[in-house]
Amino acid sequence: MAHSVREQILIALRQRTWYSGQELAETLNISRTAIWKHMQTLKEEGYQIISNKKQGYQLVDEGDLLTPIAIEQWLTTARLGRHILHFEELDTTQRIAHEQAQQQAQEGTLVVCDHQTNGRGQLGRTWHEAKNEGIAMSLLVRPDVPMHQAGQLTLVAGIALAQSLRTFDVPVTIKWPNDILINGRKVAGILTEMQTEADRISSVIIGIGINVHHEQFPEGIKDRATSLVRESGRTFRRAEVVATFLNRFEQLYTQWLELGFGSFVSEWETLADRLHERVTLRTRQMTASGTLLGIDETGTIRIETETGETRFHSAELIY
Ligand code: BTN
Repeated sequence: MAHSVREQILIALRQRTWYSGQELAETLNISRTAIWKHMQTLKEEGYQIISNKKQGYQLVDEGDLLTPIAIEQWLTTARLGRHILHFEELDTTQRIAHEQAQQQAQEGTLVVCDHQTNGRGQLGRTWHEAKNEGIAMSLLVRPDVPMHQAGQLTLVAGIALAQSLRTFDVPVTIKWPNDILINGRKVAGILTEMQTEADRISSVIIGIGINVHHEQFPEGIKDRATSLVRESGRTFRRAEVVATFLNRFEQLYTQWLELGFGSFVSEWETLADRLHERVTLRTRQMTASGTLLGIDETGTIRIETETGETRFHSAELIY
């Protein structure tokens, strides 16, 4: 990705404690006044930069921004997240990601925003977002697999998200198919939407919402939702969380394309919430209760009911 002058300034400031205005001006081939103006804009954006006449500029703190340059510093991927579109406010990142897909955007394009005003959830629900508190992102991928396998990406993304959150010492589990929980409360959700052309997948948009800093939630979800900060008491940089997910997901996405979903079954089960416990599950036609056995090599959930093992392709666990 080509970097703007401001991004180049940031990259330079990250490399040393102090950088003089003169050196920066020479390195970037612009005037010292231009450097000074860029510094003012960076400060307005949330970067904490101090300066003095003798030593020049110092980047003290990068704040908690979700900008491409903030995410990029933690990114080790080859393809995913190498084209990032950041918005301060949007109705839903899914809409922009679908538009990008139609405009032939590259695989791995990521749409992120600080304030999502009309976030979409599973089953036509809404996804609550508070400004600068959480992460709302949509990732565009173009897997060359049969259409019926696209839904497995929800599970692969769930594994990647759970594993990456665990690297921050947060004890998350996965509630099949797409909820990430901490101590039984939902901290993140995944919404996978597919676009097709004739009988093949043209793109899949993986939408992920993560509650990061939230201290409170609105009536209606406040007993069921939580955030990373609330459960762990530590601080998080949203950009680092996004990049850590992308780094992990790229590895698992490649594994899924090469080896198929069967290679994820045991890993999913180690992360599963209420494995071997009694659960209730609802489909369009019926409600069933039984012991959660796990999933099969296609991602279908397995429940031991009174009549024996039953598999459900599409259902919702109720708890
Ligand atoms: C769910 O658990 O119901 C899925 C929630 C998915 C929310 C994310 S936030 C980013 C992306 N944009 C949306 O409008 N929805 C997804």
